[in-house]
Amino acid sequence: MRRIDYDTEQYQDYARGRALAEQQMQTWISAFGAVLPEQRPLTGLDVGSGTGRFTPALAQAFGPVTGVEPSVRMREIAQAQSLHPDVQYLAGSAEDIPVPSGSADYALMFLAWHHVQDKPQAVRELARVLKPGGRLLLRANFSDHHPRPWWLEYFPRGYEVDASIFQPLHEVIAMFTSAGWRVAGFGTVTEPSSGTRGDMLERLRLRTLSFFGQLGPDDLEAGFRRLEEAVAADPGAPAPVFSEPLLTLQRP
Ligand SMILES: C[S@@+](CC[C@H](N)C(=O)[O-])C[C@H]1O[C@@H](n2cnc3c(N)ncnc32)[C@H](O)[C@@H]1O
Repeated sequence: MRRIDYDTEQYQDYARGRALAEQQMQTWISAFGAVLPEQRPLTGLDVGSGTGRFTPALAQAFGPVTGVEPSVRMREIAQAQSLHPDVQYLAGSAEDIPVPSGSADYALMFLAWHHVQDKPQAVRELARVLKPGGRLLLRANFSDHHPRPWWLEYFPRGYEVDASIFQPLHEVIAMFTSAGWRVAGFGTVTEPSSGTRGDMLERLRLRTLSFFGQLGPDDLEAGFRRLEEAVAADPGAPAPVFSEPLLTLQRP
């Protein structure tokens, strides 16, 4: 995968391009709640928190959250937007999480795992910061469990290019289980529709997905042209939904 530098690309448009409607956020919070212990408050980490898309909602639902994010620009936007008193954002990464050992009940990594350069170190660091029995909610795509969003087919080799960004599921599981973790759950979550196909096209034009960073200019142009033609046939139709994988891992 071509590395995405969020300090030079995507950060200006990320919050707009990847905005979630209230109902979509509630779908995720319910899915997270279903795989977390019932006690409240829980101390959480949002690792690769980006612009803080999930962080305040996690704090609202479960208890205090620390967002850990390597990109200065993404963190600045998160800090400027989040007013929740139980949220703090810190510089760091999955490989180097600046919180005490055994201090968190859970960590969420939402579409951040594929950016992690030193994955074995991240497995060790996540085990360090979680309490024994603590959970990692890994909302990741996998090359063999890919959500295949409806718009991807319009881009030349779209599916192959996007799938190649991600590891196969068994490889991710093996990285954790070989370090003593266990799989606590694997399923999919289907958000309600993100609006109309026309709305979705507008958001996709902001190119706030790692996928677009993998395409050359000709494929980008061809893909958007084909997508625009398809959407123009019925721009007000609801954007089709798709199912997104959520892997829950439990620390030893
Ligand atoms: C697709 S964004 C997801 C942001 C947020 N979780 C969300 O869903 O809106 C990926 C984020 O992972 C961050 N990231 C990159 N390398 C990372 C690493 N090694 N550890 C943790 N996060 C990382 C990026 O800076 C970026 O903010």
